[in-house]
Amino acid sequence: MTQDASDRLKTLLAPQEAARVQSLRLADGRVTIVLDASGMDARARAGVEASVKKTLEAASGVSEVRVALMADKADAAESAKPMQRIVAVGSGKGGVGKSTVAANLAVALSRTGRKVGLVDADIYGPSQARLLGTEGQKPVAHDNRLVPVASHWGVPVLSMGHLSDPGQAIAWRGPMASGALTQLLEGHWDDAEILIVDLPPGTGDIQLTMLQKFKPAGAVIVSTPQDLALIDATRAVELFEKGGVPVIGVVENMAGYICPHCGEVSDPFGSGGAEACAKTMGTPFLGRIPLDIAIRRESDAGTPPAAGEGPQAAAFADLARRVADWLDTN
Ligand SMILES: Nc1ncnc2c1ncn2[C@@H]1O[C@H](COP(=O)(O)OP(=O)(O)O)[C@@H](O)[C@H]1O
Ligand SMILES: [Mg+2]
Repeated sequence: MTQDASDRLKTLLAPQEAARVQSLRLADGRVTIVLDASGMDARARAGVEASVKKTLEAASGVSEVRVALMADKADAAESAKPMQRIVAVGSGKGGVGKSTVAANLAVALSRTGRKVGLVDADIYGPSQARLLGTEGQKPVAHDNRLVPVASHWGVPVLSMGHLSDPGQAIAWRGPMASGALTQLLEGHWDDAEILIVDLPPGTGDIQLTMLQKFKPAGAVIVSTPQDLALIDATRAVELFEKGGVPVIGVVENMAGYICPHCGEVSDPFGSGGAEACAKTMGTPFLGRIPLDIAIRRESDAGTPPAAGEGPQAAAFADLARRVADWLDTN
């Protein structure tokens, strides 16, 4: 191809497009054009590619156009950085249903069309492999990073439960625990826009690593309505606030017991405590999840209630909507 032909084609482009041309070749009616796309986001790249293609395809003597967009190294490093926003799910103490809420929040968010991943950071007592029905699956590693395990619920997941045998006690010491957490969080989460992280209960090493190294966008605190759980929940809220992580709000779990026989609602743990407590702390209240045998049964079976229909799924869908709204506006 002559320089003339190349120059002729280049003059057809808009000036801002021509300025980005790194090379342009025409052979047998086929144009191969390389553009410098540094500093452009995905939308701008797609726009330039389409426009250049259209212009050159209309030129005489051209039957096919191939456009390659090159980003410089700094851009490539930028785009390899995780894009996801982390939502940490924490609680002051164990057994309040933090893992249940984390799993179902992830599933409910995914049902709204968001791309969601789930990290089980409770490396001492992992439960997400079971809750998402992925027990026994082993994640593979690619480029020294773990590839999340796919679940039936559209939510990929990584948990120590995938790496150790079920029921095996895990006795990590502090630094090892933080290392394990890092492996889970630095997995191939490339497709996820939101990462839900199920933290261990309390305010220890893992929580600190999480705050300092991975900077969650926000935190959801789970509490039961009892006073004791609420005192611990207050500590969890303080930990996040001190670490500069905004608290999205408090969820009251196991809120009212629906008797499976007569349908009567009773309050074995009290009711409304978390809402009042959130109010005192100036923290939003994200809603109530009822104490319901179906939630425990379905969770144990690896079929998250949020994936089904009915009042349990609706409660988690409400929670997901509030969290999504918060993420959209913060
Ligand atoms: N709303 C609920 N109704 C009934 N059972 C629940 C509810 N939330 C959690 N559970 C059950 O309580 C137990 C503890 O929940 P889990 O999510 O493991 O708590 P945590 O992660 O805070 O330790 C599990 O058996 C779970 O199925
Ligand atoms: Mg748990």
